[in-house]
Amino acid sequence: MTTNDSFQSAELESYIINHTTPEPSFLQQLFRETHLKTTKPRMLSGPIQGRFLTMLTQMIQPKNVLEIGTFTGYSALCIAMGLPENGKITTIDYDVEIEHLARKYFACSGLEHKIRFIVDDAQKVIPLLTESFDMVFLDADKENNLLYYEQIMQKTHIGSVIIADNMLWSEKILQTGHHDPKTVKIEEFNNFIQHDERVENVLLPLRDGIMLMRRIR
Ligand SMILES: C[S@@+](CC[C@H](N)C(=O)[O-])C[C@H]1O[C@@H](n2cnc3c(N)ncnc32)[C@H](O)[C@@H]1O
Repeated sequence: MTTNDSFQSAELESYIINHTTPEPSFLQQLFRETHLKTTKPRMLSGPIQGRFLTMLTQMIQPKNVLEIGTFTGYSALCIAMGLPENGKITTIDYDVEIEHLARKYFACSGLEHKIRFIVDDAQKVIPLLTESFDMVFLDADKENNLLYYEQIMQKTHIGSVIIADNMLWSEKILQTGHHDPKTVKIEEFNNFIQHDERVENVLLPLRDGIMLMRRIR
């Protein structure tokens, strides 16, 4: 069993993992290697959110998925697992130091043919993409979420599903008088989404908070 200590409590996390379909062994290995070889392993989605992403993808059956923030490839692989035969995920990350780890696990997963991995700055790349995406997983530098969101709006359609991770930000959004710039930006994003008539949204208390949105306009 792999655990991700950013969940609410270790005991609750274990219980949830024990009542969730287990992740395949290549994801367990990726989880372990990410913890051994990277400085911020907590960035990885982990088994519970990972199974959620796979199931959501299976339910949506998207042909084109965009992921902003690959890290070591854990969530990209979870999404790829849920894709239909003709489905593809484009995942973007600018960190060349973790690129090899993501590529290694894409190769050994048997899902490589479904994954397009772009190593570059997402802000630069997204406007150049020519597809319309049925599903987007927004999981990069949180302070730029609003910028990415407007870029995504140009690349999605009515019915597209957009998922933004870490929108409870370790519950810092509840602290009154907080001034740290990331928390302020996340709060701005959540408030913007709540009033944006282009989407319906639900803020799920899963792990660090997932803002799940569906385009209606
Ligand atoms: C939270 S991690 C992604 C975790 C991954 N989605 C998962 O669940 O396993 C965020 C990633 O976004 C990347 N990132 C941050 N700013 C970026 C940018 N402007 N362009 C591309 N990648 C960026 C970081 O290098 C980091 O690997």
